[in-house]
Amino acid sequence: MLADSSGGALAKKRRSPEGLQLSSRRQIVNKIYFGDNLPILQELPSESVDLVYIDPPFNTGKRQKRTQIKTTRSQQGDRVGFSGQRYKTLKLGSREYDDIFDDYLGFLEPRLVEAYRLLAPHGTLYFHIDYREVHYCKVLLDQIFGRECFINEIIWAYDFGGRSRKKWPAKHDNILMYVKDPGNYTFNVEEIDRIPYMAPGLVGPEKAARGKLPTDTWWHTIVGTNSKEKTGYPTQKPLGVLKRIITASSRPGDLVLDFFAGSGTTGVGCLELGRRFILIDNNEEALAVMAQRFAGCPDIEWIGYPPPGSAAT
Ligand SMILES: C[S@@+](CC[C@H](N)C(=O)[O-])C[C@H]1O[C@@H](n2cnc3c(N)ncnc32)[C@H](O)[C@@H]1O
Repeated sequence: MLADSSGGALAKKRRSPEGLQLSSRRQIVNKIYFGDNLPILQELPSESVDLVYIDPPFNTGKRQKRTQIKTTRSQQGDRVGFSGQRYKTLKLGSREYDDIFDDYLGFLEPRLVEAYRLLAPHGTLYFHIDYREVHYCKVLLDQIFGRECFINEIIWAYDFGGRSRKKWPAKHDNILMYVKDPGNYTFNVEEIDRIPYMAPGLVGPEKAARGKLPTDTWWHTIVGTNSKEKTGYPTQKPLGVLKRIITASSRPGDLVLDFFAGSGTTGVGCLELGRRFILIDNNEEALAVMAQRFAGCPDIEWIGYPPPGSAAT
């Protein structure tokens, strides 16, 4: 029997506004599309999405490639590890996609116009880009959203990999945040994860235990080679960064759209946080990674791609 007459945890959960909202939106259906995002976006209904996060190719002029390897102990191994142990490297395969555009802004513009149309009046766009393109993209987004709708430039800072000796090593990405209505948008400040004070001794034990709100500079490590999160997809973004965005700028049950989905990090964040999602990618390798990442998840409709063991439309 499910009834809880004691007024205990179950009853409290049912009474909470968040619980009510969740139960009234029980039909959580998520969609993953394989294809060019523009015609797919054009078919989606206006103002139907609460949050858009996109991480388009950065226009590096290269083919993005990541080779996944596995090492096993072997006397004849090609790598030397801890205590002089030798390891044999096994290539598991590589995943790649093009990151070359003759007319980058011309490619982005119609897609960003669609993102604006799809956003609900209280909706937010997070646009993830690198330091070489961000200025051009800011001007384009100002034209589409209006300068007054620009809220933040988040600097995601990491400290990993080689260091140039000829210039300051570039170790950050830029994330531009725009809203449709600067007077009314979702921002759940109380839900945001807190970070430690630099000098906890100066603020007293209570504040120190609670931590402080992050600023617009986020220190977060990249997805590490040995991390459990690692999918092998090039340019995979860390779940921690996505979860902070989804937590702050959407509510449980809301619909989140990522139309440059790659390995599907946005979808994983949504599943963990009780949001619905639409993901789109035109690279079959991205779909293969997502099929692995979402294996066994029943609430997903796959469109244009048949993942192993599930019916696609
Ligand atoms: C930087 S990656 C996204 C990585 C993703 N944020 C993650 O965490 O894995 C950009 C993705 O955009 C996809 N893409 C590029 N052009 C596209 C298009 N016209 N339609 C749909 N997807 C596209 C690429 O295949 C690539 O997977």
